[in-house]
Amino acid sequence: MHEDYQRVLFVGPGLQGGALGEAFRKALKALCGEGEAPRVIDTLDGFDSLWAALDEPLPGNGAALLVVDLEPTSDSAYLDWLRDELGRLAQAHPQAPKLWVTAQALGRRGLDAAQAWASIGQRERHLPCDNVNAVASDPDWSRVPPHARQVFLCTGPRCVRRGALALWKTLRRELLRLDLMEKPGGVLLTRTACQFPCNLGPVLTVHPDGCWYRVSDDSQVLRLVQGHLREGEAVSDLLIPSPYAGAADA
Ligand code: FES
Repeated sequence: MHEDYQRVLFVGPGLQGGALGEAFRKALKALCGEGEAPRVIDTLDGFDSLWAALDEPLPGNGAALLVVDLEPTSDSAYLDWLRDELGRLAQAHPQAPKLWVTAQALGRRGLDAAQAWASIGQRERHLPCDNVNAVASDPDWSRVPPHARQVFLCTGPRCVRRGALALWKTLRRELLRLDLMEKPGGVLLTRTACQFPCNLGPVLTVHPDGCWYRVSDDSQVLRLVQGHLREGEAVSDLLIPSPYAGAADA
């Protein structure tokens, strides 16, 4: 594997299930030849299996373990969070190996086993997990944000084909222009994977109001921001009819 590490974990969503995960594992196996294959941990349902894997003993003193993170939406804040969590676990277990993390944000290119495999040897990109205090000390990470509404824009594959990424930019720009973005009483904007009614997309939902919208162009985005997110009134002609609307009140 690599002389610096006694164990390498490849960690990311969808690594165990589905065609992409299967192809990734197959390619990885071919790359490591006769050597021990790195462990692959699927985080689609959470990180419990990663935390558990870190508890497994490693041979020798001063062992080192590398986490190759394959989260497609990884960014600096996410990576700091992961390092901080790993560092705390290691602190709680004096026998724990020294932990390092490296990230391969693959985005929409899918899982590239060769690139992930090569990252094991790119020692200069590996980050230690001890003393990562920036995240833990940020109070925003420990409280529910004070936004009045949360907007979920679907950027799943079918909504993206219908132009969701361009709509995302318009939505974000307009919220910033109106000073509604991520502030008390304002809007927390979140991109999501498929929200399911793909054929009715691009899909955008507003909570806690429980409104499902189809927004097809920039002018509709602007109307939605003005009507619902600024004035608090649902924009009825953009709503996707739901057979369950009002069911909770019945
Ligand atoms: S891809 Fe957007 S709802 Fe399915």
